[in-house]
Amino acid sequence: MLVLGIESTCDETACAIVRAGREILSNVVSSQMDLHKEYGGVVPELACRRHIDVFIPVLQQALKEAGVTLAEVDLIAVAQGPGLIGALLIGLNAAKGLALGLNKPLIGVNHIEAHLYAALLSQPEAVVFPCLGVVLSGGHTALVKMDALGLYQPIAETVDDAIGEAFDKVAKILDLPYPGGPQIEALAKNGDPLRFSLKAGQVKGRPLDFSFSGLKTGVLYAVKGQNGQDARPFTNQDQSDLAASFQQVAFKDIIDKTLLAADKYQCQTLLFGGGVTNSRTLRAIFAERAAHLQQLWPPAGLSLDNAAMIAGLGFHQFQLKGRDTLHLEAATRMNFT
Ligand code: KG4
Ligand code: ZN
Repeated sequence: MLVLGIESTCDETACAIVRAGREILSNVVSSQMDLHKEYGGVVPELACRRHIDVFIPVLQQALKEAGVTLAEVDLIAVAQGPGLIGALLIGLNAAKGLALGLNKPLIGVNHIEAHLYAALLSQPEAVVFPCLGVVLSGGHTALVKMDALGLYQPIAETVDDAIGEAFDKVAKILDLPYPGGPQIEALAKNGDPLRFSLKAGQVKGRPLDFSFSGLKTGVLYAVKGQNGQDARPFTNQDQSDLAASFQQVAFKDIIDKTLLAADKYQCQTLLFGGGVTNSRTLRAIFAERAAHLQQLWPPAGLSLDNAAMIAGLGFHQFQLKGRDTLHLEAATRMNFT
């Protein structure tokens, strides 16, 4: 079964062809980073316009690289949400138009769930259930117990900023370009992680939930002073030390809570998804502190937003639940099903 995956939830326009949920024939991603860089974050209106401009060329490229025609596609899987409403509508309407015109089944996929599937794409049998899904992306931070593909129990989430969002906002404070994660990781290599005393947020009565907005404010105060005015000259070394301190506190909080949750919910496997899992530093910390657990990380090219993960999960979802109708609606927020 050949599945065409379509992704347009935020600032990447992507199409992929995946055979039977595991063999990637093509995975084309058109990133809008250049467009949003100068604003320090994604501008929804600009994102939508760019999706419209590049969707057809991205689709054509994905078909060409895979060596298949639209007529040979068996299923169209599209990211239904969560995401920016205008951006979602472009991918969703393109998918509906293709499904209608080609008379092919359509399936809507949860983008976050697909991030978790990315680590399983080439080896879905590798996961040992129940496992703990760890979602670390620009828009979401969550822990979810997975009893099987499609059978999930949400455990924890962020009450304010997502972890990737926190990296991007801290980067902005430090005058670094968007997206901030890779910039901070690079800067932190030369920094002293113990130099600044920062704290990750704890949510009262919910020990597994995340809160990163206070940590971000801690970085702001370190740069500008408590009242935003008593800033002192900030050297390159200060900047590296602050990046290292922020990164270490944020990642320690994530691993502490992940280990607590794995223990509480008796999960022997961690399944990671989302753009922040690109971080070599994060992977190294987990390798050291969670060596007793099986760890499945997304391979290169599948951490950040892509359509191969949408096509891959779409295949399984179609087997489990059958097709969606053309009434499928975009969902800016979406729970795990
Ligand atoms: O999953 P993703 O492509 O977007 C959403 O679906 O939200 O993740 C993008 C996020 C950005 O916030 C980016 O700063 C972060 O992933 N990111 C990183 C790294 N590489 C990307 N964060 C920390 N360290 C990195 N090396
Ligand atoms: Zn994403």
